[in-house]
Amino acid sequence: NRPDKLNALDRATIAALKAELAAAADDPAPRAVVLAGAGGKAFAAGADIAEMARLGPAEAEAYSREGQALAQAIDAVGRPVIAAVDGYALGGGCELALMCHLRVASAKARFGQPETKLGLIPGFGGTQRLARLVGEGRALELLLVGAPIDAARAFEIGLANRVVEGGALDGALALADEIAAVGPEAARACLRAVREGLRLPLGAGLELEARLFGQTFAGDEMREGTAAFMEKRPPRFAGR
Ligand code: COA
Repeated sequence: NRPDKLNALDRATIAALKAELAAAADDPAPRAVVLAGAGGKAFAAGADIAEMARLGPAEAEAYSREGQALAQAIDAVGRPVIAAVDGYALGGGCELALMCHLRVASAKARFGQPETKLGLIPGFGGTQRLARLVGEGRALELLLVGAPIDAARAFEIGLANRVVEGGALDGALALADEIAAVGPEAARACLRAVREGLRLPLGAGLELEARLFGQTFAGDEMREGTAAFMEKRPPRFAGR
C-alpha cells in the first residue's frame, strides 16, 4: 500500500507485508488470501530503486534475502495466496506475484523482470521461480530482454492463471470463492504436496503425496466429502 511509488517494495513495505501475512497466518477463518496493490496502477513496480541504489554488495545480498523471505511468509499462511495483478508487476513486484500460489490478471496487467536494464538481476526469487513456472527459455527471454509482457502473453505462458474482465481484485476474490468451496484441509495438503514436492526428486515427492493422502483419511473432511457425493448433496465442510 504505497501507491505514490507504484507500491515499490522498500524495506518498510516488505516488513509491513510480512506483518500482514503473519496476521493472515494466525487467523484460522480465511480459506484463501488475496494480495493486491493499492492505487489501481500497479501491483508493485519492483524493489525500491532509490533504496537499492545506495546499497553495497553485502547489504544488497541481505536485501535479497529479506525480499526472498516473503515467500516463507506466504507459504506460512497455509492457505492459497492469490496475487491480484492490475497494472505493473515488475521486478520485485513480478517476483512477489511469483511467490503467490496463483495469479489473476486484469487486461491492463504488465509483467516483467526489467532488472537487467538497471544493470542488476532479480533478487527476490525471480531467476528461480520464473524458470520453474514458465520454463527456462521463456524465463531467460524475460530476464535478458527486460521488456514487460501483457496479460494475454502472461496467460499464454502460464504466468497468469486467469485474465479477467474488469478489476483483478474482483477476479481474485471470485477465484478465492471457488477455492472456499473445496475441502479446506485438502486444499492445505495440496499446497504442501506441490510446493514441497517441487523441491524434491520425484520419488520423494510421491512419498510425500502418499503420506498426505493417508493423512486426509484420518480427518472428518473426507468422510463428509465422500458421504455427500454418495448422498447426492453438497458437502458441509467444517467452518463453512
Ligand atoms: N522503485 C522506486 N520508485 C519507483 C519504482 C521503483 N521500482 N517504480 C516507480 N517508482 C516511483 C517513481 O519514481 C515515481 O516517483 P516520483 O513521483 O516521486 O517521481 C512514482 O513511482 C510513479 O512512477 P512513474 O515512473 O512516474 O510512473 P509512470 O507511469 O511514468 O511509469 C513505470 C511507470 C512502471 C513504467 C516506471 O515507474 C518504471 O519503469 N518503474 C521501474 C520499474 C523497474 O525497473 N522495476 C524493477 C526494479 S528492480
